Amino acid sequence: MSARRVCALSDLQQDQPLKVEVDGIPIAVVLDSSGEVHAIGDTCTHGDISLSEGFVEGDTLECWAHGSAFSLRTGKPLNLPAYEPVPVYVVQIDGDDVLIDPAATKAMS
Ligand code: FES
Repeated sequence: MSARRVCALSDLQQDQPLKVEVDGIPIAVVLDSSGEVHAIGDTCTHGDISLSEGFVEGDTLECWAHGSAFSLRTGKPLNLPAYEPVPVYVVQIDGDDVLIDPAATKAMS
């Protein structure tokens, strides 16, 4: 597989998650307050909740349902009740295009 354009960089507003789908995989794209773009699995691992409906704080995205905050860098939840990580996708920026390859997840230890 290869990276696909999911949105324009100019579509992203700081700390406002955008839900996109690539090959049926829901992904939350976030432009953080330092200008870095992140992409993590959009479905909370605690329940069937879209993380892009949650809240960005620093480099975390918090699920609105029960408050687990997921690291935008590692995908790991930083607090219960979620305890399984979400995938983190490699983001490429090409001009104003934001590209994601759903097969390219960052390996986290
Ligand atoms: S559904 Fe996300 S923390 Fe419960």
